[in-house]
Formats: sequence, C-alpha cells, structure tokens
Amino acid sequence: MTTDRSPLFFPAGAAAQADPRGELAQGLLQPAAAVAPKYFYDRLGSALFAAITELPEYYPTRTEAAIFERHGGDIAQALHHRLGSGMTMVDLGAGDSAKAARLFPALQLARYVAVDISEAFLRQSLQALQQRFPALEVVGVGLDFSERLALPEGRVSGPALVFYPGSSIGNFAPADALRLLREARELAAGGGLLIGVDLFKPVPVLEAAYADALGVTAAFNLNLLRHVNRLLGSDFEVADWRHVALFNARASRVEMHLQARHDLTVSWPGGQRRFVAGERIHTENSYKWAAHEFEALLHDAGWRDLRCWTDPRDWFGVFLAFA
Ligand code: AVI
Repeated sequence: MTTDRSPLFFPAGAAAQADPRGELAQGLLQPAAAVAPKYFYDRLGSALFAAITELPEYYPTRTEAAIFERHGGDIAQALHHRLGSGMTMVDLGAGDSAKAARLFPALQLARYVAVDISEAFLRQSLQALQQRFPALEVVGVGLDFSERLALPEGRVSGPALVFYPGSSIGNFAPADALRLLREARELAAGGGLLIGVDLFKPVPVLEAAYADALGVTAAFNLNLLRHVNRLLGSDFEVADWRHVALFNARASRVEMHLQARHDLTVSWPGGQRRFVAGERIHTENSYKWAAHEFEALLHDAGWRDLRCWTDPRDWFGVFLAFA
C-alpha cells in the first residue's frame, strides 16, 4: 500500500549542530584523555554497531528482542490498561525504528515521534515507515539528547510513552541517567516509560561482549579515531592504537579505551597532545545495573508503578513505569 502522507521532520537544534572541535580538543587535552561515545557513530561506525549486534558474544540486542517477543502481549496490555489506545510514542535513539515498529500492531498508536542524532538516516527510515503504517502520524526530530532531552514545542501533547530500548541508558553515568530519566518523565506528561537495561552478569561474559573474537568491537572503537580526524583535522593513525575493554567492578561498568602502542604525538590545527606508550583515551562506559538498583533510580526520577520483565538468565531487563 502507498500513502500520500509524509513524515513531519524537525531538524536538530542549534546546540546539536555546534562545532564539535572545542569539545574534542578539550577531551583530548585532559590529563586522562577522553572522547564521548557519540563520536563512534559516523556512517561506518553505525554499520559496525549493527554488525556488533549480530555477534554471538554481544548478547544484549537478542536478549532484549526475546523479552519483547515473549512478553510483548503483557507489556501492551499493561500499557493499554493505563494509557488506553491512540497514544503517542516518543522513541529515543530511534535509528531504523525497527524495535518500535514491532510493537505498533499491539499498541495501536496515533502518533510516533522518532528522535535521533543522525538526521539523514532518520529521514530515510521514516519515509519507509510511513509507507508501512499509512494511518500513523510520523514525526522525526533530529536531536542529540545526551546533554538535554527537550523536544521542539508542540511535538508531544498529552500523555506519551517514552521508549528507550537497547540499554543505551547504560552509556550514561548514574547521575546523568537520573537527569535523563527525569527529563523523560517531564516529556511523558503523565504517560509511561518502556526502557531496556543491561543487567550485571559474570564478568567473562561482559568482557567478551566488548572484545569479540572477530575484532568487530575493536574496529568500532578504532574507527572513532578516523571520525575525530575528519571533525578535528587531527592526524591519529589507527595502527598506533590498541582496543581495550575491561570491567570496572567498583563502578559496575564495562569501559572501552584506546591505548597508545608506543610514544607518539597527535596534532590538530591549534593543538597537540603527547601520549606515552600504554596511555589511554577513554571512549565509552557501559554501566551494568542490578535490577533493584535500576528500580531505585527510576523511583528517584519520579517514575512509579514499576514492572520488569527479564530473560531466564536475568541478563537483561525491560522496565515499564508510569509518570
Ligand atoms: C549503544 N550501547 C548500548 C552499546 C553498549 O553496549 O554499551 C554500545 C557498544 N559499545 C560497544 N559495543 C556496543
């Protein structure tokens, strides 16, 4: 079936379009150098992430999918019971909208608002989605919500379901996760939150998921250097760096770093940084929560009436909460 209906599209706010060079240089010049994980996701980085989700070692994507497969009916029923049909769904980090679209038939939405940092990709995927769901009002918002979650005026009116799958909340430090969950509650305006969270599990399983045998995660991490070169004009050489993934038990997080193979200097217009052999650039944290601790975090953020569905090994949790 084809439709004349087109998705509405709202491009990124000025802040999201700001020049990233200042932020990148500042991160590289800190005593413990760091680059934010959003810089993984250029075109190749997004493709490498998609490949990661297919790896046998990377359990989160397929474990979450199995939970939705098995408990989707219950989840939809709980949502209908509280919010009725004809609700708005706000999908944070929507990507190709595939996870949300699987829930559409059960949820009977009136409106779908897809939010993603990558505007070009979102435009493309929402056109295709509108063809599949011609009766649905489809809205795209290009936005980096890692600093602040605030949609353009009028995009959400009345109670909404905020959908945040994939355990991307794990890439936020607990204080920032709390801030984001509070902002999501404001946005939901009396509605609900459906969120996927990766849970703590044996450390060898965690470390293998971020250091796979094929080296796809290593490529994903190292590709960040090429992305930074393009944005900052720097001269990182991929061959000078090694991928490191480790579990930091004190902070309950998997950390990814890039480690200098030998002494070297990286230069960019207006700056440079010397690295000694073994020195690292911190590129990502992926927090692994205990279910009861994540429930406490949701509670602190003002969410109530919590429910959680997990897989048989309790490796991943899908949490439903109401504002
Ligand atoms: C997007 N995010 C939830 C992934 C994670 O597991 O933290 C990103 C990732 N990094 C390495 N592999 C996957």
